[in-house]
Amino acid sequence: MTKPPGRVQKGPFVDSCEPGKHAWCACTRSATYPYCDGTHRGSDVTPIKIVLEKACTVVWCACACSNNKPFCDGTHSRI
Ligand code: FES
Repeated sequence: MTKPPGRVQKGPFVDSCEPGKHAWCACTRSATYPYCDGTHRGSDVTPIKIVLEKACTVVWCACACSNNKPFCDGTHSRI
């Protein structure tokens, strides 16, 4: 049985990201969280993919409660 997605930490991960494709780990089991490392394979969870047009700081949700995944929307402050 696959472990369901859960909270990695109560607050977000903030990272400077390069332009291009990024895959946010939705199964929360990646060794490279918040980035997908393929660990989800065999489960019914798939990563959320985004494309950044330019380098920027990304605030990734790590509490699993955001209504705007893969991005933090501040929901973690109410859990
Ligand atoms: S870390 Fe999930 S809403 Fe902020």
